[in-house]
Amino acid sequence: SKARMVVDKDFVISEIDKRIYGSFIEHLGRAVYGGIFQPDHPSADENGFREDVAELVKELQVPIVRYPGGNMVSAYNWEDGVGPLENRPKRLELAWRVIETNQVGTNEFVDWTKKVNAEVMMAVNLGTRGIDAARNFIEYCNHPGGTYWSDLRKEHGYEEPHNIKTWCLGNEMDGPWQVGHKTAEEYGRLAAETAKAMRLVDPSIELVSCGSSSAQMPTFPEWEATTLDHTYDHVDYISLHQYYGNRDGDTANYLALSLDMDNFIKTVISTCDYIKAKKRSKKTINLSFDEWNVWFHSNEEDKEIEPWSVAPPQLEDVYTFEDALLVGSMLNTMLRHSDRVKIAAMAQLVNVIAPIMTKNDGGAWKQTIFYPYYYTSVYGRGVALNPVINSPKYDSKDFTDVPYLDSSVVYNEEKEELVIFATNRHLENGLNVDIDIRSFEGMELIEHVVLENDNPKAVNTLENEQVKPHKGGKSYLEDGKLVGVLPKMSWNMIRLK
Ligand code: AHR
Repeated sequence: SKARMVVDKDFVISEIDKRIYGSFIEHLGRAVYGGIFQPDHPSADENGFREDVAELVKELQVPIVRYPGGNMVSAYNWEDGVGPLENRPKRLELAWRVIETNQVGTNEFVDWTKKVNAEVMMAVNLGTRGIDAARNFIEYCNHPGGTYWSDLRKEHGYEEPHNIKTWCLGNEMDGPWQVGHKTAEEYGRLAAETAKAMRLVDPSIELVSCGSSSAQMPTFPEWEATTLDHTYDHVDYISLHQYYGNRDGDTANYLALSLDMDNFIKTVISTCDYIKAKKRSKKTINLSFDEWNVWFHSNEEDKEIEPWSVAPPQLEDVYTFEDALLVGSMLNTMLRHSDRVKIAAMAQLVNVIAPIMTKNDGGAWKQTIFYPYYYTSVYGRGVALNPVINSPKYDSKDFTDVPYLDSSVVYNEEKEELVIFATNRHLENGLNVDIDIRSFEGMELIEHVVLENDNPKAVNTLENEQVKPHKGGKSYLEDGKLVGVLPKMSWNMIRLK
């Protein structure tokens, strides 16, 4: 079967905000302790951060990292994580029912993000706390000095303000599991008033209001409409969260789940724009897809974890080859909506549903999902173009007319590079593609990277990397056309210059 695509310089979706390639570190499981931070590990630097992990994070070129939660933030006292280590309290961490030692907190995390060349996306607690704690926290982080909280930061060894620009107003406040869960009315009022106070402290910040925890929430999308009614004038973004899994072992249906993500994004955009119209506003609210990934492999094991331990192995999904394909398509989906999706966070970054895994007594390695994330983050910078796709289609359990070819296209003007990301969802057959790139004259093929594997369930371990890309993709240029073959069940990156 054959698919056709037209890629044109003028079919511009948007300049891509690099923060679309963000990620997330929560105080959860071994993300912080045993992940980014492990003072007794042979690769630890003078501050206790693992160099092996930092190297992999740098390789991904993660531009921004959301912190410190997640569900955890909804009962977190930020003051517990600053100041002399010996004074930091051990607390019962209610979201994940573990003990939080607070050996890493705001300042250490800011240090770590500098080490890996990323910015911080900070979340405030709107579960158990509210306006007062949030305004103190931003004063501590961003005010230059001469006040109680900013001087305390200096006393803690941080003379210069952290100048954190992107802030989340709580986490998943629509979810009944959240400590301090709220109705849309309650959250909308609290978020608006907290945003006002935070902006009075630092008018240069950008704020993210909580959207739904998934498109499957019974309150979606009424939650967005009601909360935005309160927050519209005070925030810049609304969040989306979504995790997928292949619980029934139905790969054809699983690989189509990015269509659900596409629909979720479209509905949130429509809801934002409905409130815009209702308010006769000139302002547009953009989207922060600040939790997205595959999450289901570890669900059963997590039920066995004893409560109140320190940094147990929670949410340690071991990703398969087919998960990497869906991750690639989720990235494509967000790029095709990059006119509105300005921030996103692969959840999460290390050990906890993550592209990077570690052993406490060993090294760090790349999970299967590392690869589409890596290539899209590193090469998907510039302007997103709208590919006109004509592909054969299939029906699956939950979807009809699923195109076998899923693609996104990026033009990097600075490097004069055209980059095509493409997944072939076909489980048995390769897909011939004809890509009309006539508006780009004189391009030459740099590389065609392919991620493929005969076994959809193949995984990577520290010792054995079964799933890794190769550069032997079959494509060539012919009369202004790129002609190629995408192997069955494969993720591809074709780069031209
Ligand atoms: O990323 C894991 C958890 O998923 C987060 O803590 C929460 O926000 C979401 O439910």
